Amino acid sequence: MKTQYYTAASLDGFIATEDDSLDWLFPLGDLNEAGYPTFIDAVGALAMGSATYEWILRHASQVAAETGASWPYAQPAWVFSRRILPRVAGADIRFVQGDVRPVHAAMRDATGPKNLWIVGGGDLAGQFHDAGLLDEIIVQVGSVTLGRGKPLFPRRVTSPPLRLISVRQIGSGLAELRYEVPVGGTGAA
Ligand SMILES: NC(=O)c1ccc[n+]([C@@H]2O[C@H](COP(=O)([O-])OP(=O)(O)OC[C@H]3O[C@@H](n4cnc5c(N)ncnc54)[C@H](OP(=O)(O)O)[C@@H]3O)[C@@H](O)[C@H]2O)c1
Repeated sequence: MKTQYYTAASLDGFIATEDDSLDWLFPLGDLNEAGYPTFIDAVGALAMGSATYEWILRHASQVAAETGASWPYAQPAWVFSRRILPRVAGADIRFVQGDVRPVHAAMRDATGPKNLWIVGGGDLAGQFHDAGLLDEIIVQVGSVTLGRGKPLFPRRVTSPPLRLISVRQIGSGLAELRYEVPVGGTGAA
C-alpha cells in the first residue's frame, strides 16, 4: 500500500492557473493514453482539498464526458475544508479538516492493501509529506508553461532528494516522472 500524489503539472510547476482553470491540460493527452485506468484500479481511497473538489462539482458535465460519471470515483473520498460544502448524492465523501495523520489512518483502514491517492492540491500533498506519510510523487509534466498558478508542491525537498524511479513519454504532450520519497525524507516547508 502506497500513498501517492499523482497529478499533472505544467513544465514550470503549476497544477492549475491561479483561477483554477485546467483548460491547458486536456489537449495534452487523453486519460487512457496516460495510463490513468491502470493507476486508478490500484487506488482504494483518495483525498483532496476543497478547490479540487469544487472544480469537479463545477465541471460535472465535462468530468462525466471524460470518465462516464459526474462524480468519477467509486472509492471513498476525503475532502479537506473548513467550510460547509455541497454534497454529491450517492457518493462516499467524508469532509474533514486539520491534521492529515488521523485522516490517513482512516483512509488506510478503509482500503486494505490498495493505494491511497492524494489528488491535490500541492499544499495538501505537502501536508502528507510533512507528516512523513507520502511515498511517491507521480507527475505528468505537460509541454506547456503557465507563468503562474497553483503550485505543484510548495515545499523545499533537497536533502535527501526525491529518488527518480521512472520516466515515460506520453506522446508529445506529457512526460510522466515517478519519484519515491526516501524514508525520513520530510523536508522543511
Ligand atoms: N493538474 C492536475 O492534475 C490537478 C490535480 C488536482 C487538482 N488540480 C487543480 O489544482 C487546483 C488546486 O487548488 P489548491 O492549490 O487551492 O488546492 P486544494 O487542496 O484543492 O484546495 C485548498 C483548500 O483545501 C482546504 N484545505 C487544505 N488543507 C486543509 C486542512 N488540513 N484542513 C482543512 N482544510 C484544508 C482549504 O479549504 P477551505 O478554504 O475550504 O477551508 C484550502 O483553501 C484546483 O484548481 C484543482 O482543480 C489539478
